[in-house]
Amino acid sequence: MPPIFSNLRSSFGRRILLLFSLCILAPGALFGYFSLRQVEEKFHQETMRRMRLQSREIGMAIHGGLTSVGAEVEFLAGILGDGTTPAFRRSSDWGWLFHDRALLGATRFRDGSRAEALFGKPCPPPPRTAAARSHLAFNQGLLYMQGNAEGYPRFFMARAIRGKSPERELLVCEVNTDYLWGRVRDAAPPVTEVAVLSPDGAPLFQTRPLPVAVLERVEQERRRGTAGNFEWGQGSDTLLVDLATVFLKPAFLSDDWIVVVSRPRSEAFAVAKRFTRAHFLSISLVVLIAGLFAHVQVRRSVAPLAVLKEGTRRISGGDFDSRVEIRSGDEFEDLARSFNAMAGHLGREFRIQSEMGRIVRTILGETDEGKIVEAVLDNVNAVVPCDCAGLSLLDPGAMTNETITYIREDASIVPSAIRKTNLFLSTEEIRRMLSEEKSVIAGKDAEFGDFLSRWTDPRPAAFLLSPLVSRGELVGVLVLGYRDRPEPTPESLVRLRKIADQSAIALSRSRLLKELSQNDLGTLTALARTVDTNSPWTAGHSERVTGLAMEIGREMGLPPHEIDLLHRGGLLHDIGKIGVPPSILDKPGKLTEEEFAVIRRHPSKGAMILEPIPNLQKVISIVTQHHERYDGKGYPDGLSGESISVHARILAVADVSDALVSDRPYRPGWSWEKVLEYTRENAGSQFDPVVVEAFFRIEAKKGRTERVS
Ligand SMILES: [Fe+2]
Repeated sequence: MPPIFSNLRSSFGRRILLLFSLCILAPGALFGYFSLRQVEEKFHQETMRRMRLQSREIGMAIHGGLTSVGAEVEFLAGILGDGTTPAFRRSSDWGWLFHDRALLGATRFRDGSRAEALFGKPCPPPPRTAAARSHLAFNQGLLYMQGNAEGYPRFFMARAIRGKSPERELLVCEVNTDYLWGRVRDAAPPVTEVAVLSPDGAPLFQTRPLPVAVLERVEQERRRGTAGNFEWGQGSDTLLVDLATVFLKPAFLSDDWIVVVSRPRSEAFAVAKRFTRAHFLSISLVVLIAGLFAHVQVRRSVAPLAVLKEGTRRISGGDFDSRVEIRSGDEFEDLARSFNAMAGHLGREFRIQSEMGRIVRTILGETDEGKIVEAVLDNVNAVVPCDCAGLSLLDPGAMTNETITYIREDASIVPSAIRKTNLFLSTEEIRRMLSEEKSVIAGKDAEFGDFLSRWTDPRPAAFLLSPLVSRGELVGVLVLGYRDRPEPTPESLVRLRKIADQSAIALSRSRLLKELSQNDLGTLTALARTVDTNSPWTAGHSERVTGLAMEIGREMGLPPHEIDLLHRGGLLHDIGKIGVPPSILDKPGKLTEEEFAVIRRHPSKGAMILEPIPNLQKVISIVTQHHERYDGKGYPDGLSGESISVHARILAVADVSDALVSDRPYRPGWSWEKVLEYTRENAGSQFDPVVVEAFFRIEAKKGRTERVS
C-alpha cells in the first residue's frame, strides 16, 4: 500500500481524510465550478456585447462608405453643373480628383434617357418612381443596385447635376464595391466573419459564405423584427451571430441592409478555455498541496497513535517494562511521557500486588505462630518500606497487657536475627488501637508512649502502628520503625492494612488450632491413662513411651507434624488392651497359647476402636504395627524393614524399652543398662538400627551409655 494510503488503515486517519474532503475538496470543487460558470457567463456576455459593437461599427463603416461615395458623386455633379467638365475617358484620369477610387464609372443622363458615359462602364438609369424623383429633387443621392452574372449586384449612386433638374440631367456613378467592402474588412476584427445582406436576405458581401441555415435563421430574426444575437449549431461548430441594421432609407432611399457578424464559439472562448484550464490547474494544485499537507499532518498524528496503540497492547499483555518513544514535539510527546509514567506506575503496582499476594499466601499458609511472625517480619519491608519492623502479640489467656514483641532491627536484611522482648500496652492504648481503622503514626514521646517507651535501642524516631484485630479483640500490633518521620502513600497504607488484617486472621487461626490440638491431646492422654490403669503394672506406660518416641523422632529430624503423629500414636498404641481381661494382663505365670493369642489381637482391636474417628486415621498404622519386628517375625501381619512405618519402628523401641525397665507380675524390671544392651543386641533384628542409633544418641547426651558394652 503506498504511504499516502497507509493512513486509511487508521480510523482516525480516515476521519481526518473525510474531514479534509469535506472542508477542502468539496468547497474547492464547488468554488471552482461556480467561479468557472461565472467567468464563462461573464465572458459570454462580454463577447456578445463586443460582437454587438462590432456589428454596429461595421454598419457605420458601410454607411460612412456610402456617404463618402455620395460626397464624391455630389462633387462630380457640381463640376458637371459648372460646365467645366474635362473630357476624361478613363477612371485613372480622374485620379487626381478621386484618389480613393470609390467610383468605378460615371454616366450622365440627359432628358431622361440619353446617356453619356463619362468613364467606366455605362450605368443603368435609376428607377423612375415618384419617391425617387422626389428624393433626387431634394438634391440627395439615390442608391440602387443591379444584379450581375457573378451573383453579386452592382451598386449605383444617382444625383441631380448642380443647377439642373433631375428630369433633364442626371449623374449616375457606379460604386466601387472593393472600396465599400474594403471599409467593411477594415472595420471587421480578426477571426470574425462578416456578411452584408440585402433586405430580401441575399448576400451582398461576405468574407466567408455563411451556411444556408444561418441565413434562414437571420431571415427569421429579421422578420420578427428582432435585432441582436443568437447561437447556432452545436459543439465545436457553434457560431455566435450578431445582427445589425444599416439604415439607408433616409439618406439614400434604399431598403435597409443587414450586417451579420459571426464567430466560431470555440475561437471566441479560446481565452476562456485557457483561463478555465489555468484555473483548474490552480485549484488542482491548491488541492494537491492541501492534500499533501493533510497527509503529513495525519501521518504526524497517526504514527504516534500507532506507537501508543502498540505500547498499550504490550502493557495489556503484561509487559510493564515496555516504553514508547515519540519525538513529535507536541501533545503526543506529552502523552507518551504520561503513558510511560503510567506504565512504570502500573509495573510497580503489579509487582507490589504480586508480592502482596505472595506474602498473604505465605502468612495464611502458616499455622505456627512463630512461622507467621517470621513471615510478616521477613516480607513487610518489600511492600511498605521501613527501617525496622516489629510484631507485638497479646496473650489472650494472660491477665496483663504484656505483649511478646518480635523485633527485626534492620527490616531490609532477611534473614537476620529476630529479637524477642516484652512491651506493655496500656488499657487506653488498647482502646485507642481498637477504635483506629487506619495505621497510626506515632512519634517518640507523643502517642502510645506507654507502649513504645520500652522499645529497645536503637530506638526509631517515628513509628507506624497497625492494630491486628480479630473478632473485635486486639490480637497484636504491627510496628514499623523509621529513622525519620514516615510519609506513607495512601497505597502503602492500604497494603499495610491488608498485611495487618491477614496477620490477625492467621494468628487467630493459629491460636484456635493450638487450642483444639491441646484439647485433642488432653482427650487422648485421658484415654491412655484409662488403658494404663487397666493394670497396676502399666501405669504411666503410654505417656512415657510417647515421650521417648517423640525424643527419638526429633533426634531423627522428623518434621513437627510427624512428631505430632508420634504424640497421638504413642498415647493410643495400646488402646486395644481395653478388651484384654486383667487376668491375662496381670497373670504372674507364663501365658497359654490362647491367652497369648488374645494379647496378639490388641493391635487389631485398637485399629478397630479408632477406625470411626476421621482425624486419627494416620495413627491406625502406628497402633497396628507397633509389635511388628524389623526382621519380619513380629505380629499381627509379620511386616519387615521399611514396610513398617517409621513411626511404628520408633514406637517399638520406646515401647519395649519401657516395658523391660518396668516390673511385671512375672518378672522384676530390668536395669536401664540391661535394657540398652538388649536394644543394641536386637538392632537389625527386632529393631530398626537407624532408630536404635538415634535412641543411643539421646542416651549418650544424657550420659547413660557409659556402662553399656
Ligand atoms: Fe502393645
